[in-house]
Amino acid sequence: MRVFITGASSGLGQALATAYARQGAQLALIGRRRQKLEKLAASLPGQHTVYALDIMDRAALHHAANDFLARGDVDIVIACAGISIGTLTEYEEDFAQFQKVINTNLLAMVATFEPFIKPMKARNRGTLVGISSVAGVRGLPGSSAYSASKAATTTYLESLRVDLHDTRLKVVTIAPGFIDTPMTQHNPYKMPFLMQADAFAEAAIRAIDKGSSYTVIPWQMGVVAKLLKWVPNPVYDYFAFKSGRKPRSDSLP
Ligand SMILES: NC(=O)c1ccc[n+]([C@@H]2O[C@H](COP(=O)([O-])OP(=O)(O)OC[C@H]3O[C@@H](n4cnc5c(N)ncnc54)[C@H](OP(=O)(O)O)[C@@H]3O)[C@@H](O)[C@H]2O)c1
Repeated sequence: MRVFITGASSGLGQALATAYARQGAQLALIGRRRQKLEKLAASLPGQHTVYALDIMDRAALHHAANDFLARGDVDIVIACAGISIGTLTEYEEDFAQFQKVINTNLLAMVATFEPFIKPMKARNRGTLVGISSVAGVRGLPGSSAYSASKAATTTYLESLRVDLHDTRLKVVTIAPGFIDTPMTQHNPYKMPFLMQADAFAEAAIRAIDKGSSYTVIPWQMGVVAKLLKWVPNPVYDYFAFKSGRKPRSDSLP
């Protein structure tokens, strides 16, 4: 099995890479921090290829994808890289953060999948996995850019799934709740059902194996997400306004 993973230098991507390597997979590990990727590759069983690049550089991403494809067929592509930054629309300077979050979380996912669809169609098999978030189910306070990017990601992945309906390709959307990674370690609020990254990876791989169209991990957060969708706006607004929020990047230490 050959797997291409963005965001492999940390958190969920690293946990997925570790779990797949233990299953004997050959990996392409993508992230900006070469040293972290090389250290990870060296620590894993098997032979893996490191591509240190910024996923906002579409040409570099395609070059890596085509290089990995030239070495063999690719079974699974996981677009996991992402960023979360607190934003407030009233601060005009936050517009740059909106662009960064949308470009990284949504457009770079599109760019990640692009090179793989034609070869997967030719083989009549392959799985495209997008890591979205429960944060896209409703607009979270202080996280307008992040919530919008993840709502867009979930919807994009659904369109992609329908576009590929007449093929044997699978599109798997995974919406994590709260998982213990560097992204969440400084969140100044309670994180219900907080899960460890290795447990997340196990559950995610089960969903990928099944070709599941949409999975929330952990499942308890899936129940919450379903309920949240149907809570009337006045009730949602009241509780969401009172809840904790991600600080703006300007106010971070
Ligand atoms: N942790 C959670 O509770 C949670 C919940 C819901 C959704 N998610 C989603 O899960 C995914 C992974 O998050 P995480 O918790 O594992 O966060 P993390 O530990 O901060 O890891 C983020 C990963 O994305 C990579 N990345 C970010 N920007 C990049 C860029 N421009 N170019 C290349 N790589 C880039 C980082 O690599 P480099 O820094 O080396 O470039 C890193 O490997 C994200 O999409 C996130 O939104 C996480």
